[in-house]
Amino acid sequence: MLIAQETSFDENEIFQLYDSVGWKPWTRDIAKVLRSLEKSHLVLTARDETGKLLGLARTVSDDEMICYVQELLVNREFHGQGIGRRLLEFLKDRYVHCRYFVLTTDHESAQEGPANHAFYRRLGLIEHHEQGLSAFGLRVG
Ligand SMILES: CC(C)(COP(=O)(O)OP(=O)(O)OC[C@H]1O[C@@H](n2cnc3c(N)ncnc32)[C@H](O)[C@@H]1OP(=O)(O)O)[C@@H](O)C(=O)NCCC(=O)NCCS
Repeated sequence: MLIAQETSFDENEIFQLYDSVGWKPWTRDIAKVLRSLEKSHLVLTARDETGKLLGLARTVSDDEMICYVQELLVNREFHGQGIGRRLLEFLKDRYVHCRYFVLTTDHESAQEGPANHAFYRRLGLIEHHEQGLSAFGLRVG
């Protein structure tokens, strides 16, 4: 498996990846997704030896104080093979100098919540409230 930073993106390939995990708010406007990838601080991909896109993670960051992981996804057919771990471990190392390394995900009571929370905990991440922090935001539309 090849983990690499990428800066240009194929619309069909990106659509297939996001569609594989059922992320309708993203696939409904794939042009917006492409723009968000292009404007990210870093987009990391995982590909197999044939070049097939297996997973992707992207960050929003000032590369000093904060790294925000916005989107980490692995093609549903390839879950459970260590791809998500490889992507997130790379980002943890890459942004180790930042004070904050954060992400937002669905609550544990949501459909995919238990699986995602188990994954993030396995990778050493903890919830804000467990270290005396809170996260605030406007209601997600
Ligand atoms: C969450 C996601 C990125 C995990 O990627 P993955 O490649 O399937 O996960 P990995 O195989 O790398 O698993 C890494 C570790 O987490 C653990 N883990 C993963 N899913 C788990 C689950 N459902 N329950 C318990 N542990 C789990 C694995 O056991 C593994 O532990 P190990 O490395 O110590 O053996 C992937 O399931 C996904 O793309 N989900 C849909 C999109 C999504 O919801 N993304 C996250 C929210 S932003």
